[in-house]
Amino acid sequence: MLPAEQNRASLSSDAVLHHFGERAETYAASCARAPWSWLRRRECDAVFHALGDVKERAVLDLGCGAGFYACQALVRGASAVTGIDKSPEMVRATPRLAGLHVQQGDAEALEVAGVFDRIVCAGLLEFAASPMLVLSGARQVVRDNGWMVVLIPRESWVARRYAGWHSRHGIQIKLFSSAFLGELARQTNWVVADIWSVWPMSHVVRLDPAL
Ligand SMILES: C[S@@+](CC[C@H](N)C(=O)[O-])C[C@H]1O[C@@H](n2cnc3c(N)ncnc32)[C@H](O)[C@@H]1O
Repeated sequence: MLPAEQNRASLSSDAVLHHFGERAETYAASCARAPWSWLRRRECDAVFHALGDVKERAVLDLGCGAGFYACQALVRGASAVTGIDKSPEMVRATPRLAGLHVQQGDAEALEVAGVFDRIVCAGLLEFAASPMLVLSGARQVVRDNGWMVVLIPRESWVARRYAGWHSRHGIQIKLFSSAFLGELARQTNWVVADIWSVWPMSHVVRLDPAL
């Protein structure tokens, strides 16, 4: 990265922390209200379809926010769920439940104990300065017969408007074309196993470890 790009990435990264920190307390409630609840329900169905049966599985939730997917995984019978989020406020906003361990941490410099059957990363990659670091870190902690599911904004006019809204508060988000995603996966030792579109702007992608 050039110094100017590095500077922009670091300003954006500070803005991401600030943005989610400010919204942490009300994040779960606002996602449960229309119109987000409508989008959330459809994305959640696609994410768990892609994750498959999580019963008795160890699940890692990268960028867990207030714990929506982590809690859903527990409800669906996961044996243990670890959630990681960079925002301390989000970590504090996550419910305390048996079987759920939440820690503050940076998914771009992943430090987590254990290996996981399933990794979910919903709504984080677009905010990462380096999605490649997130994917390569996750690759180190997935079981050989496990997989990872990412929820990302795909290239579309709706996503571009969403990106424009974020840029007004200093956040540069990334949009993912199939080619960009495929290249990221290849460079981080994952294989794109399947992609589901969720209208209007998301892709749910299953990544299998390249063995
Ligand atoms: C759009 S929210 C999604 C939260 C949650 N996955 C959900 O679907 O409700 C993105 C989350 O990613 C977190 N985040 C952003 N960059 C991160 C990073 N580098 N490492 C860990 N968490 C990060 C933010 O703090 C925020 O909680």
